[in-house]
Amino acid sequence: MVKNMRFDWTPSSISKYNYVVVKIGVSVLIMGIVFHLFFSTSSGVDIIEVEQEEEITPFVEEEARTPSSSSRSQSSASVEVHEFGGQIVEKGKCDIFIGDWVPDHSGPIYTNKSCHILDDNPQNCMTNGRPDTGYLYWRWNPRDCQLPRFDAVRFLDFMKNKSWAFVGDSISRNHVDSLVCILSKVEEAVLVYHDLDYKNRRWRFPTYNFTLSALWSPFLIRSDIFIDPDGDASSEIQVHLDKLDENWKNQYQSFDYMVVNTGKWYFKTAIYYENNTITGCHYCPGKNLTDIGLDLAYRKSLQLVLNYLTSSNHKATILFRTATPDHFENGEWFSGGTCKRTMPFKEGEITFSNMDSMFRNIELEEFQKALKEGLKNEVNIKVLDMSQMTLLRPDGHPGPYTHFQPFAKDKNAKVQNDCLHWCLPGPIDSWNDLIMEMVVNS
Ligand SMILES: *[C@@H]1O[C@H](CO)[C@@H](O)[C@H](O)[C@H]1NC(C)=O
Ligand SMILES: *[C@@H]1O[C@H](CO)[C@@H](O)[C@H](O)[C@H]1NC(C)=O
Ligand SMILES: *[C@@H]1O[C@H](CO)[C@@H](O)[C@H](O)[C@H]1NC(C)=O
Ligand SMILES: *[C@@H]1O[C@H](CO)[C@@H](O)[C@H](O)[C@H]1NC(C)=O
Ligand SMILES: *[C@@H]1O[C@H](CO)[C@@H](O)[C@H](O)[C@H]1NC(C)=O
Repeated sequence: MVKNMRFDWTPSSISKYNYVVVKIGVSVLIMGIVFHLFFSTSSGVDIIEVEQEEEITPFVEEEARTPSSSSRSQSSASVEVHEFGGQIVEKGKCDIFIGDWVPDHSGPIYTNKSCHILDDNPQNCMTNGRPDTGYLYWRWNPRDCQLPRFDAVRFLDFMKNKSWAFVGDSISRNHVDSLVCILSKVEEAVLVYHDLDYKNRRWRFPTYNFTLSALWSPFLIRSDIFIDPDGDASSEIQVHLDKLDENWKNQYQSFDYMVVNTGKWYFKTAIYYENNTITGCHYCPGKNLTDIGLDLAYRKSLQLVLNYLTSSNHKATILFRTATPDHFENGEWFSGGTCKRTMPFKEGEITFSNMDSMFRNIELEEFQKALKEGLKNEVNIKVLDMSQMTLLRPDGHPGPYTHFQPFAKDKNAKVQNDCLHWCLPGPIDSWNDLIMEMVVNS
């Protein structure tokens, strides 16, 4: 049994709120140190961010570099209505998010050879030399129904003339990379747009007139992130709890489907604004500001995003993805935490950390409200509750294999581990099986 392995420096008796504060406090204290360590060991790569929680490593490189803005389905295997614990409300439907990983000999749909997006990709565990391959041979098996594998031909046929967007943080990027790799088995994706640091990208699948976009929006709402040329955070992130991130808002009209997520970035030290006035902060000792609580800030911003989507005149299909847990053990991302497991957990062998559970509950509660609003306004919104299925896959992360052969020169080299993002190919490919089921097969 592994419980709460993430935050084990805090006594479990601490109440949720204190616990959050303690946790963040510790993170922030350590953050500065790590940041320098990190930069002294990662020669001049253009990475640029104080990464609390998820984004310290070169592979994550999630920064905004300047202050900038930054239907009902009928299938037996689909669920849109969830209760807080992931329980199904709709009778007779299978909850595809509850189940187990079972051995599967067929292996991944694509490999490091077939997908060019994996060249130089920090999630390319195969090429980077991850020695074990067992993590490739599992299939997500919902408890009460069969989940077919992603059928790329069928998907592309279905999506003729359509446009998709994945909006969110670096896990969203990880996810879209997986989808591009899967679809590229049928037709090579043509990258028709990218920004300087490839945070925003757009592909076309010409035969199908299908457009797929990846949009960078780690908070989904407006956030100004200040990074100086050394890559240090020169100031706290300014988060506007009453303004959407225009990076996606301005393009929203052009999307038929949008997959959105957020999560980890909310752990970072932040000053909150409403109506352009400071209204509070998250972890800001010495600033004479009110720490309004991460839960409140998170709920507010989700409400803003979901309200916009469900009341918009533009009616896209929205897939709202829950945050996914990391699997650092024996330390955190900044203190030598690793993820060396080579097997999935079984259901019940692991539970969410308090923080993950708090975030997920807020997400599911706010989704419930959005679902009702969406029904009124005929906006099709569904939840992708990936939290539980990914919690069970501690074996699916790159760990030290985020760059080529990290131990080639020195078997005992000290390497930053990535126990947050997912190997490609890897467990995250199954997320697309679920999307296929919810969007195409239903
Ligand atoms: C793919 O990974 C294998 C190891 O799993 C490696 O031998 C091979 O060189 C890699 N191919 C490419 C194109 O990176
Ligand atoms: C591609 O799809 C767009 C959006 O639906 C449509 O306006 C356009 O005519 C399509 N182009 C072709 C060549 O089918
Ligand atoms: C795609 O758009 C083109 C051009 O507008 C149209 O001729 C074609 O029928 C559309 N295909 C589908 C499947 O909607
Ligand atoms: C926002 O601030 C402006 C002045 O900066 C003020 O006139 C307005 O009433 C404020 N609105 C709200 C909702 O607080
Ligand atoms: C903190 O802010 C309050 C209200 O804005 C103010 O009355 C108080 O003097 C401030 N305290 C310090 C130490 O600046």
